[in-house]
Amino acid sequence: MGSEKSVPVTFTDAGEHKSIDLPLMEGVLGPKVLDVRKLYADHGYFTYDPSFSSTASCESKITFIDGDEGILLHRGYPIQQLAAQSDFMEVACLLLHGELPTAREKEDFVNSITHHTMVHEQLIHFYRGFRRDAHPMAIMVGVVGALSAFYHDSLDINDPNQREIAVHRMIAKMPTIAAMAYRYSIGMPFNYPQNHLSYAANFLYMMFAMPTEPYRVSPVMEKAMDRIFILHADHEQNASTSTVRLASSSGANPFACVAAGIACLWGPAHGGANEAVLNMLKEIGSVERIPEFIARAKNKDDPFRLMGFGHRVYKNYDPRASVLRESCYEILKELGHGAEPLLDLALELEKIALHDPYFIEKKLFPNVDFYSGIILKAMGIPISMFTVLFAVSRTVGWLSQWKEMIDDPHMRIGRPRQLYTGHAQRDYVPASKRP
Ligand code: SDX
Repeated sequence: MGSEKSVPVTFTDAGEHKSIDLPLMEGVLGPKVLDVRKLYADHGYFTYDPSFSSTASCESKITFIDGDEGILLHRGYPIQQLAAQSDFMEVACLLLHGELPTAREKEDFVNSITHHTMVHEQLIHFYRGFRRDAHPMAIMVGVVGALSAFYHDSLDINDPNQREIAVHRMIAKMPTIAAMAYRYSIGMPFNYPQNHLSYAANFLYMMFAMPTEPYRVSPVMEKAMDRIFILHADHEQNASTSTVRLASSSGANPFACVAAGIACLWGPAHGGANEAVLNMLKEIGSVERIPEFIARAKNKDDPFRLMGFGHRVYKNYDPRASVLRESCYEILKELGHGAEPLLDLALELEKIALHDPYFIEKKLFPNVDFYSGIILKAMGIPISMFTVLFAVSRTVGWLSQWKEMIDDPHMRIGRPRQLYTGHAQRDYVPASKRP
């Protein structure tokens, strides 16, 4: 923990002058924090921050974001450098263990992940219970949660070895479960993982291979998939990561906690935005209709928001969006796509929005979801699978944060309080006496 000193907080409550000394803590980067852990016990006050805009929920060493400068560091390494020079398995090692792995460490990690990619054959029957048109995120929530019914030998979170096996199992099985959700939705047989393929290539193989002919994963698609996994791996204490941390704080098993994270990520304000961006672009349809939608996004009486724009933390360009924006052209060209109408529309929408006073004043920039969908669509990934891919990648971040929390000897169950504005105590009124 960073350096601590106390600062006086003075106020008047019901005519009485109060002065409370609160410890002021400083991390390595980012804002200092006022330590209010003893505020209620010592002074009888709660703090109030319903959407946690000014709340540090934990101490972490994993990811640092500077929203004003558009900076994203994973264990100190800029996301731009990791996206350009690393690969997803190496980034997973970095997030989980804190350092870039040696060649041997990475080989051992990849070998362990590779040999946990299969799922229990019994799990296949779980899919049969879903309708073919079930949203794949609904399947992910159900099947990942069900993993805790299969792996009783890695549920004891107090055993470091079982924790590591559970982490490797989930990172390894997420692509398999995700691809199975897609295959089930199109009525095609499941593909077994192929141990000779990389993590990204194996996912694409399980998604698209047909049993009737050999399937070769395009190196361009493999590289694009790997880069998208890197860019979505972790992002500090976002809503789904906070969900995983809070669920885990009760001692729930990691499979169930990741399932809770998947459920939270599904929301269109969070990971579901990539799917919503593509649906929005298709609804806009043409450059001529952009002003109509910009006007709707600014209209307080219209619930419509420009999906893929805005961020709780970034009040500058999301650095991940910048990387994806640059990758868009490169990947579309390498995939042999001519002009991608949706990309042209997205670039025009971005240009118009970023010159609009409303978006400038509210510092609404494109976020990671704005461009990811365009690349995924060009790769032939169905729109309904976009958030599933986000969940596959973010599982590494969720488990890195989970591991950090479980390893913390001071970990306690998370139990927020409230500002109660309901009825004061009143007596029961029998039905016969109610008005
Ligand atoms: C992700 O937290 C993370 O790190 C998330 C994430 C990760 O990697 O985990 O980065 C991934 O979830 C990215 C965000 C994807 N979501 C979207 O693209 C959905 C569209 N964006 C918005 O819903 C919104 O911007 C949020 C949810 C992302 C952020 O919401 P906030 O911080 O609560 O901001 P807000 O809703 O208070 O908005 C502030 C103002 C409001 O206007 P006023 O009430 O002040 O007049 O900006 C407006 C909003 O109406 N606004 C938008 C807008 N986003 C905010 N207006 C139009 N279009 C938008 N997209």
